[in-house]
Amino acid sequence: MGDAELLTRGRSAKAAVRATALAYLTFRTEDLPRLEEYWTDFGLRVCHRGENGLHLRAMDSAPFALKIVPGQRTELAAVGLSVQNAADLQVLSAQPGSSPIFEHREPGGGQAVELTSPGGTQFVCVHGAQTIDAIEPSPPLRSNGARTKRRERASVCVPARPSEVWKLGHVVVQTPHTTALVGWLLDTLGLCVSEYQTLPGEQVPPIATFLRFDMGDAPADHHSLAVILGPVEQLDHVAFEVDSLDEVARGGEWMRQRGHSREWGIGRHETGSQIFDCWRGPGAFLCEHFADGDLLTRADPPLHQEIRASSIAQWGPPRPASFGVPPLTPGALLAVGRGLHGANDFTLRRLLAVVGALRR
Ligand SMILES: [Fe+2]
Repeated sequence: MGDAELLTRGRSAKAAVRATALAYLTFRTEDLPRLEEYWTDFGLRVCHRGENGLHLRAMDSAPFALKIVPGQRTELAAVGLSVQNAADLQVLSAQPGSSPIFEHREPGGGQAVELTSPGGTQFVCVHGAQTIDAIEPSPPLRSNGARTKRRERASVCVPARPSEVWKLGHVVVQTPHTTALVGWLLDTLGLCVSEYQTLPGEQVPPIATFLRFDMGDAPADHHSLAVILGPVEQLDHVAFEVDSLDEVARGGEWMRQRGHSREWGIGRHETGSQIFDCWRGPGAFLCEHFADGDLLTRADPPLHQEIRASSIAQWGPPRPASFGVPPLTPGALLAVGRGLHGANDFTLRRLLAVVGALRR
């Protein structure tokens, strides 16, 4: 797909398949017990423990949400997506560089195809995985508004505990190849764009692109994947959906008491409207509880916005300088060097322009 079409349509008319959901993430780690403790404090539950790693679930009916395996360092290893049918796996297995169809030997089973994004992120597309029984959440709190009273002769008391995490919500990937990755997600996996954010005076590359699954007339989460400009292709953050502001804050208080570091929150995004609370993760990425996000359908065309501070938060504490701005590590400087030769979208000028735009 050409850059112009990418920016105007936000959807590929000739997508190879249309993926339908975020299925799971796989992490590698050099410290499996530490990662297990982090994610259980965050609100996930161990559902399967094997010789070579473990699986954790949320409360929805997905057989698992995270898989953790041993590795050299803590990093994202793969993004699992669900596809509609077996024919989709056939189509994907014929894509350049894809694996043949294989048995998906994970909780839930099914069959799968592995494929790699242009910047090197591993995707696993799964069909036929069995769902499991959802875990019943605590009953919603009856809240008293200024004019609408729902709770009489009763008090609010949420016990100290991890957040009740309902589902894996979205994954944000940094890459110096934003145009190529967004084009690949549209053309190969059939996602569509909810919002592009660019720098003033630029059409491409998008600095941030928020993508959802194309569910036709059925409402879909505003974004399940997002792509932002960064020095190397890596996980920026992973977000899990909870039921309410109380659940965001309750889970945040548990994280704080357990000694984890809040990166930024609690606030409300403009893009997608979510109430968010971001925590430093066990690797070089963030982990987010969120609630109350937007839903869109095929009738909603992609929005085109200039990037600015309010698109990250309409209210909340001041944004930490590190949030949304990649650190100038040796890898970042190398990427800037490559960008000078036109090999990617990450240039020093754009980096400085993003820093400036986020101050406004
Ligand atoms: Fe997020």
